[in-house]
Amino acid sequence: MFLKSEERDNLKKADGDYLLHPFSSIKEVIAQGPKIIQKACNTRVYDIEGKEYIDGFAGLWYNHIGHGRKEIIEVAQEQMAELDVFHCFAGFSNIPAIQLAEKLSNMVPMEKAKIFFAGSGSEANDSLFKIARLYWFARGMDSKDFIVSRNKGYHGVSYGSIQATRFSHYQKGFDPFPPGFAFIGEPYCYYCPWDKEYPSCNLRCAEALEEKINELGEERAAAFIAEPVIGSGGVIVPPPGYYQKISEICNRRNVLFIADEVITGFGRTGKNFGIEHWNGVMPDAMTLAKGITSGYMPLGAALISDNIFQVLKSVDQFFHGFTYSGHPLACRVALKNIEILAGENLKQNAELMGARLIAGLKALNSAVIGEIRGKGLMVAFELVKDRAKKEKFDHPLNYKIFEAAYNKGVIVRPLDNDVIAISPPLIINEQDIDEIVNVLGVAVAEAGY
Ligand SMILES: Cc1ncc(COP(=O)(O)O)c(C=O)c1O
Repeated sequence: MFLKSEERDNLKKADGDYLLHPFSSIKEVIAQGPKIIQKACNTRVYDIEGKEYIDGFAGLWYNHIGHGRKEIIEVAQEQMAELDVFHCFAGFSNIPAIQLAEKLSNMVPMEKAKIFFAGSGSEANDSLFKIARLYWFARGMDSKDFIVSRNKGYHGVSYGSIQATRFSHYQKGFDPFPPGFAFIGEPYCYYCPWDKEYPSCNLRCAEALEEKINELGEERAAAFIAEPVIGSGGVIVPPPGYYQKISEICNRRNVLFIADEVITGFGRTGKNFGIEHWNGVMPDAMTLAKGITSGYMPLGAALISDNIFQVLKSVDQFFHGFTYSGHPLACRVALKNIEILAGENLKQNAELMGARLIAGLKALNSAVIGEIRGKGLMVAFELVKDRAKKEKFDHPLNYKIFEAAYNKGVIVRPLDNDVIAISPPLIINEQDIDEIVNVLGVAVAEAGY
């Protein structure tokens, strides 16, 4: 049931009066008013005016199985009725948390992974930063305290994870921050930070990690964290061989390798986990969130290898945890979500529909669309003034394109450095992919070029 005009106006006013929106221009939201979404079903969301949109970004990269799935609603109701909530501190446990931990441990490309549950991606990453330091402490190497990440990496915005997130403007005004973080250049072939070309570059971007370890001293380097495919930094896919080299450096230099699979997990890139696109790579630790529940419930997970776990066991005391670690409702929803992902082979659909999306965007042959790239249904394109020179516009087009597409009923996402990202639910079909492409074609043209 949609609201009356007066009710809508009151809601918009209340939004301005009471709500501080995450990642927003406060002034712009007040000036333009909020975009209030009231209802969702499959690949569609509806605003309070009743207008329909294709959810071309799966919310925030999280909705893999589509909105409003009856199966999820049913298990959530069942779980609420049986055990709404009970914590996992000090040996308490619950059935969905145990079952989900076992399921994840058997799914991930890690040996005998142990799972620590958190409430979000940021909490999961913070947990691993603490665990990495605790691991080296327990091994008598407590000088190993630096976490290395990459420029354009996004790992969350809590006070720990924001230090691994490398967008300079995100830090402005929020300091002081905790110490012990360092970063290296990103594997961005389109705008290579070293001005090199693959493969003659000999993976200069991976060598940067070894240089950073040398600079810090091996006795200071605790862990390296990377999104297998950089998400918010622009859907940047590292070249073949990159993670094999990273993993070799980490192993040889005694640095833990953390794969942040918060976006890339659960079929988004066409494989269960993004790191699986680089054959044979086994991270020491992983973080998961978003697609773990398709966003139906907030849930994050930090996974550690058995090797790390055995060392923690020797310390015995683990003074870390969140009230909602192992929340039974979130874990039960995650279990059903993972069952649906496998049952409907949605990772394969992600691969097929992602290829169609990229082909469709290429066929637009727009003068202002530069590189079009992605893996599975994690896709983006660069906006450029000059395709040959890869020159950027003085004033980005991406927000205009976002608004134009939104007005035509398709939600995509503008990213840093004038990029548009598209990342719909993995259930999306050919017709909806074509609709997204058509709308983007018109929106790009309307943006004035
Ligand atoms: C790769 C990655 N890691 C971590 C996070 C942080 O997750 P959350 O917003 O749930 O704290 C995000 C959020 O977008 C992300 O994209």
